[in-house]
Amino acid sequence: MEKVLSGIRSTGHLHLGNYFGALKNYIKMQNEYDCFFFIADLHSLTTHPHPADLHSGVRTILAEYLAAGLDPEKSALFVQSDVPEVCELYVLLNMIAYKGELERTTSFKEKVRKQEDNVNAGLLTYPVLMAADILVHRANKVPVGKDQEQHLEIARTLARRFNNLYGVNLFPEPQAFNFGDDLVKVPGLDGSGKMGKSEGNGIYLFDDEKTIYKKVMKAVTDSGPTTPNSEMSEPVKNIFTLLKIVSTADTVNYFTEAYNNCTIRYGDLKKQLAEDICKHTLPIRERIEEIYNDTDYLGKVARSGRDKARESAALTMKEVRAAVGIKSF
Ligand code: ADP
Ligand code: TRP
Repeated sequence: MEKVLSGIRSTGHLHLGNYFGALKNYIKMQNEYDCFFFIADLHSLTTHPHPADLHSGVRTILAEYLAAGLDPEKSALFVQSDVPEVCELYVLLNMIAYKGELERTTSFKEKVRKQEDNVNAGLLTYPVLMAADILVHRANKVPVGKDQEQHLEIARTLARRFNNLYGVNLFPEPQAFNFGDDLVKVPGLDGSGKMGKSEGNGIYLFDDEKTIYKKVMKAVTDSGPTTPNSEMSEPVKNIFTLLKIVSTADTVNYFTEAYNNCTIRYGDLKKQLAEDICKHTLPIRERIEEIYNDTDYLGKVARSGRDKARESAALTMKEVRAAVGIKSF
């Protein structure tokens, strides 16, 4: 069976963009592929988080992914730092990754601009660690957004370079992957653009009912349609896009008609949207709290994911060491 692998950053809470844009696909993939999903805590060290925050970040993300429907019986869910084989492969791949090509990545150039007083080597070799994450499991498919395409290209380059240098056919070239055609972009409710953590416009799975209503009622609109069947402004279009994601077709039709015949009341639209968001998120929120506090369960999941990941990684590393010529006495 083909292997799917993806890494998840261990910061913040999951918002509707993460959920409907990525996680829902992961949940479907679990039934059709051999899936590996991990929390990339080592990657997050590039910004020197406080030690206490590192672990609570991992715990939060793990609890939220489980609550939202990732199934540890179907997928290996693990923490990156629990699989030391990744670090060994990272060292070896660093020997064939060139400074020039790493300096040219968009993400590195951006980080240099953003944190100019902390341009560490981990930042430069971020894509090498990511390549190690993928190649150590010889994953074929990597579900990631467009912003990671360049990193994936580096993973392919390093796979090819390693195979050529050592005359082996050890690493397959990992491909970016979307499950199905129903790729959604979840908009923000602040007028334009997508929902995102850094955009500061997230509606989180972790938000309570009151917070969700408050955020939705604040959504930007316009002064309302005055001629029948007029074009929607972007902020209103965004509300409808979100409505299509969370509401029934009947509800969407009802408000579309109301817009088209100029009887729409944006207050009602927002109330309906908030209610339907809550229908999706409140059951998840309940499970998040329960799972977050269940240390035994989280430990069991992470250890079983770690064992499955280490087994797969150890098989690869045995062949990698042999290819490179590393031998023990
Ligand atoms: P953020 O930093 O905004 O939380 P990330 O860039 O870490 O999001 O993305 C994590 C995953 O969620 C990626 O697969 C990304 O494509 C997806 N994602 C994030 N925001 C959205 C959105 N608004 N619409 C659709 N997918 C999204
Ligand atoms: N760099 C990815 C991100 O920022 C996270 C990540 C780390 C990852 N290792 C990975 C994604 C391996 C896919 C495969 O979102």
